[in-house]
Amino acid sequence: MEINNAKCLLASKDPYFIFAQWLDRARQIKTVIEPTAMTLATSSLQGDPSLRTVLLKEFSPQQGFVFYTNYKSQKGRELEQNPRAALLFYWGPLFRQINIKGLVKKVSRQQSVDYWKTRPRASQLAGWTSHQSEEVPRDESLEIVYEKGEHLWRGQDIPCPEHWGGYQLMPEIFEFWVGKEFRFHDRVRFSQVKKTNEWVKVQLFP
Ligand SMILES: Cc1cc2nc3c(=O)[nH]c(=O)nc-3n(C[C@H](O)[C@H](O)[C@H](O)COP(=O)(O)O)c2cc1C
Repeated sequence: MEINNAKCLLASKDPYFIFAQWLDRARQIKTVIEPTAMTLATSSLQGDPSLRTVLLKEFSPQQGFVFYTNYKSQKGRELEQNPRAALLFYWGPLFRQINIKGLVKKVSRQQSVDYWKTRPRASQLAGWTSHQSEEVPRDESLEIVYEKGEHLWRGQDIPCPEHWGGYQLMPEIFEFWVGKEFRFHDRVRFSQVKKTNEWVKVQLFP
């Protein structure tokens, strides 16, 4: 049964199950270009916010929501200072949104290395050569940096750099939003009870 209104959401026990069902639906719709694209919000210690899109690579109650990036990027630096972050999925053609909040930590080095090995060589080269979030010097260009990388690694496997890897956001709150006619949108928040790991649900005014 499709979980697509407040009644069904309030009757559900497992937010991961709902997430999986909605992601499956998004994947079936051709006009959803990147169904796993999610907006990641982080902030500095001073509370300065920043946002960007990243791709969801794995999710489960054990692992939380996993994405891969450069640990020295702005998001990486901010997560180092403040590991609390939020994710947002918006699938326009489905008129659905999910936001998730929780604590972020790095995945194991082994997991990052294993995932790195599955990436195409061009993405590996980009991972090595991109100083993500830093300024490109006036006398450099992405092409030149990339070519230098190609030259350096010619004929060899490209190892996973120390500054590259995964993060897992462990959700404490999920909020599911379903757009409805006349603005009677359904909005249900799941909050995890720390002691029991159970999820408490409430409907919110949209
Ligand atoms: C559809 C889409 C998917 C992206 N996926 C990733 C990703 O998985 N990892 C990543 O580091 N950057 C990804 N990016 C680039 C980021 O949005 C961002 O520009 C980059 O990570 C630098 O962010 P920062 O300077 O805030 O750290 C993606 C961008 C788009 C538009």
